[in-house]
Amino acid sequence: MISLWRDVAAPIPTDPFVDGGEYDSVIVGAGLTGLTTALLLARHGMRVAVLEARTVGAVTTGNTTGKVSLLQGTTLSQIRRHTTDKVLCAYVDANTAGQGWLLDYLDERSIPYDVRDAYTYATTLDGRDKLDAELSAARVAGLAATEERGCELPFAVEAALRLPAQAQVDPMALLASLAADVRALGGVIVEGERVTGVSASEPAVVTSTSGTTRAGNVVLASGTPILDRGLYFAKTEPLRSYITAFRVPGELPRGMYLSADEPTRSLRTAGSPDGELLLVGGNGHVAGRAESPAALVADLTAWTETTFPGAERTHWWAAQDYRSANQVPFVGWLPRGRGRVFLATGYNKWGMTNGVAAALSLTADLTGETIEWARVLHHRVTHPIDIATGAVFNAGVGKAAVTQWAEAETGGQLPVDAPPPAEGTGVVGRRGASPVAVSTVDGVTCALSAVCTHLGGVVRWNDAELSWDCPLHGSRFAPDGTVLEGPATSALKPVDDAEPAGE
Ligand SMILES: Cc1cc2nc3c(=O)[nH]c(=O)nc-3n(C[C@H](O)[C@H](O)[C@H](O)COP(=O)(O)OP(=O)(O)OC[C@H]3O[C@@H](n4cnc5c(N)ncnc54)[C@H](O)[C@@H]3O)c2cc1C
Ligand code: FES
Repeated sequence: MISLWRDVAAPIPTDPFVDGGEYDSVIVGAGLTGLTTALLLARHGMRVAVLEARTVGAVTTGNTTGKVSLLQGTTLSQIRRHTTDKVLCAYVDANTAGQGWLLDYLDERSIPYDVRDAYTYATTLDGRDKLDAELSAARVAGLAATEERGCELPFAVEAALRLPAQAQVDPMALLASLAADVRALGGVIVEGERVTGVSASEPAVVTSTSGTTRAGNVVLASGTPILDRGLYFAKTEPLRSYITAFRVPGELPRGMYLSADEPTRSLRTAGSPDGELLLVGGNGHVAGRAESPAALVADLTAWTETTFPGAERTHWWAAQDYRSANQVPFVGWLPRGRGRVFLATGYNKWGMTNGVAAALSLTADLTGETIEWARVLHHRVTHPIDIATGAVFNAGVGKAAVTQWAEAETGGQLPVDAPPPAEGTGVVGRRGASPVAVSTVDGVTCALSAVCTHLGGVVRWNDAELSWDCPLHGSRFAPDGTVLEGPATSALKPVDDAEPAGE
């Protein structure tokens, strides 16, 4: 599985790591947030280094759907329900600024993108009620959304909202250009360099795979912040979902669509060397908590084949993003970071605009400027409904923790001489009293501690992506234990090195 974007992307030139390097700003993560922040700071004359644990775009940005839209499903009505109209308007202002910056940048660099109308559609009466609330919120925020009776989709819809002239992009083409511009201004981008710690001393000291780096400030653009200060892993929920690409005979829908009803269906088209493809996304869930991700991919595929007869799948992939209780991102100073450590997270799958807005806001913080929408968003108060939603997040975490430890218990003993799991499968059980995770992929059997190195959740096998996923805060690990994404910074331990657990 690889995303359409990453499949066709050319290699992106990067730099070697310099142990002991000194910079004005170190940015952790080379997704859209990190590279846009790096470019904006470099344009202000700062010496920047971007440290990326994997490769540019490897995690969420290279696996996004890539809609750059101010109509965002039913997000605006959700934000309005959880906050105030003032926060809602600031959110839309932030996204308008993010969208405007991004499209201007693509125009300046002559990077092609498509201008498309965005739609949120409903197939049920409940969904229609959601559209009414969304239309009202959009109007409060000054967006020229309209209600449509029907649309071009090949199935019946109750109603649809339309916002004209939004955009869809190839995110890897965008990241490649941002990376080249950062380097052209003297910035450094290092791949394969996982940050494991940040000391907020003067200067800040960043510890990573190959050494240490010093910086005036540090920006955690790592999807979810990798430092536990501020407990952002507990204030957000990791949402994983699936995207499929299809060759479809005949006309493709011209709009970008998102359903108001569950299960979510997200549609757009995309150019490819094989001609124009239809992308269909959906079937999201909290990361690590789906019984069978493979069944969800199969379901999305079957839905598309039925809805668009003759559709042939060319790609499928998955990604996750983080949602705060009130659906507004967290951007700004990290608590106890002494004003030197910053973070951006919680884009709720709308990071193509929110990620750029975060970069604009962080740059303003670091250069002493003030942006009105950022001031409102950063100073928002916690509403009782947010506390309730946060409690639901944490109840879900608690339940998942208990369930997975129990599963390790009922998985029984997995002694060293037990037969290996079948190819492509993984099992969780115990070796002595310790939970172990054993998998076989490409003929290699690996036995690891099943205890997540973040805060001790017991991992679960992902039968679609062949990974170990933690149901607590969304850390994911390869079959050999290597960290793939999430708040964890160290690998699952090979079972022989594992600390005894669960005794
Ligand atoms: C399925 C899906 C579809 C989406 N579709 C859309 C859409 O249509 N429109 C839209 O606006 N948004 C969409 N989004 C959301 C959007 O893609 C994301 O919000 C955005 O890409 C996040 O960018 P980022 O730079 O913050 O994170 P990322 O792109 O994940 O970048 C973070 C980087 O940090 C690195 N990192 C993590 N930990 C460390 C560490 N310890 N040391 C060094 N590096 C580290 C990671 O390897 C990663 O490369 C979608 C999200 C999903 C999941
Ligand atoms: S991600 Fe937090 S415990 Fe696993």
